[in-house]
Amino acid sequence: MSEPSVVILPDPAAVAADAADRIAGALAEAVAERGRAHWATTGGSTPVPIYRLLASSPLRDRVPWKGVHTWWGDDRFVPSTDALSNAAPAREHLLGPLGVPESHVHAVPTDASLAAGEGPNACAARYEAELRSNGIVVADGWPVLDLVIVGIGSDGHLLSVFPGSTAFDRGGWVLGIPAPSHIEPHVARVSLNPRVLDVAHQLLVIVHGAGKAAILGDVFGPDRDERRWPAQVARRAGATWILDAAAADRLPADVGR
Ligand code: 6PG
Repeated sequence: MSEPSVVILPDPAAVAADAADRIAGALAEAVAERGRAHWATTGGSTPVPIYRLLASSPLRDRVPWKGVHTWWGDDRFVPSTDALSNAAPAREHLLGPLGVPESHVHAVPTDASLAAGEGPNACAARYEAELRSNGIVVADGWPVLDLVIVGIGSDGHLLSVFPGSTAFDRGGWVLGIPAPSHIEPHVARVSLNPRVLDVAHQLLVIVHGAGKAAILGDVFGPDRDERRWPAQVARRAGATWILDAAAADRLPADVGR
């Protein structure tokens, strides 16, 4: 089966620097080739140092941000001002400092849904409608984003697609996800369908820390079962995994070295 490219770097700082450089390159290339870039970023703790690098010289000058539209792969179904919001760190450390206009910032519309008394499924439908109305190319029925960034959880989730998720049986571009009970935070989510990752032009998986070593060993192990290890959706040709040495510690010997 075809495999991704796996890059192993010494520490989280080197991972952030490499990821930021690749993101800047991918966004600049998409704007140069297609006039616009649509990328989806992630939540968790990993992206903040990357946002800081993208918002500073020299990378900030490399990306024509006027042509870039920012989306999220998933978010928690909480108000945008909540500490659990995945949109807040990107606004604070990247989009705000760069002065990106609201028309180019496509956060999951949790505030609108909460104000309307809706649940996560209706919020997902709103987000899908926003994706459909922004001129994104569609292939095989799925939106083709220029770049998607994901992290993975210690249970093997990516996006908000957890082990055993029914997301794999659903057809919507964006899905409401019930609150997981096995991993914090225990709040409902809104997530892109994992199939959106199959068609993305570029897919970057960014992982660091010893706490991810065991699950990475499973994800890159001999068995393929994306329902058990959703992160295997990103174990595909054309994806790039950027890991630090601690996270890579239990990879099979022939991966990334
Ligand atoms: C979320 C994220 C999630 C995250 C991973 C990794 O909403 O929780 O989108 O999929 O990327 O859990 O998180 P860390 O970056 O904190 O390791």
